[in-house]
Amino acid sequence: MKLFLDTANLAQIKKLNQMGVVDGITTNPTLVAKEPGEFEEIIAAICKEVKGDVSAEVVSTNFEGMVSEAKHLSTIAPNVVVKIPIIPEGLRATKAVSGMGIRVNMTLIFSANQGLLAAKAGASFVSPFIGRLDDIGQRGMEVIEDLVKIRDNYKLKTEVLVGSIRHPQHVLEAAKIGADIATMPAEVMEKMMQHPLTDSGLKRFLDDWEKAKRAKASITV
Ligand code: E4P
Repeated sequence: MKLFLDTANLAQIKKLNQMGVVDGITTNPTLVAKEPGEFEEIIAAICKEVKGDVSAEVVSTNFEGMVSEAKHLSTIAPNVVVKIPIIPEGLRATKAVSGMGIRVNMTLIFSANQGLLAAKAGASFVSPFIGRLDDIGQRGMEVIEDLVKIRDNYKLKTEVLVGSIRHPQHVLEAAKIGADIATMPAEVMEKMMQHPLTDSGLKRFLDDWEKAKRAKASITV
């Protein structure tokens, strides 16, 4: 399973990328708006840091605007994937730009049927937002189960990219189901590394090491 960071913050990206655990990045207008600088510059800097796919989202809601933005965004770097919302004009734009060789991540997916339509239109990735479904009392993971089944039934090339991840358990469940990618905030990836027994285990090893060193030193004196 590929692990992506869901952030436009370069410092967070660099920190985790150095550990070799970041396969790609997703951004959205909310995340980019939090960072200083121009949109294109932010995306270009991220694309330089991370070799894998970097999603950058269009903000137009009509066909012409989405196509024009997609063409522009795809010139920033070869690893840019254009994020387009699943609305009727978005499906039309996805069909048009994917036909030009521009890869699309269809976003704001909240049902498996929306994901199926996105795949048919030519999206390379579908992004169901599971945390937002959980927030309104639905089981977000059910959409992932359905989409993974549909992907496998029809051998679709479209990758299931699980978004709106809130905690490590979401990542684990998505991995067990067979989702292709999980994208998460940096804090979730950091929590995935942590376990209290690792910390106490390491402390004990180091304490024992120091104790033994002191004991040996006192014998040789
Ligand atoms: C995914 O591509 C989205 O950017 C993201 O996961 C949305 O998550 P949120 O619900 O935490 O905003």
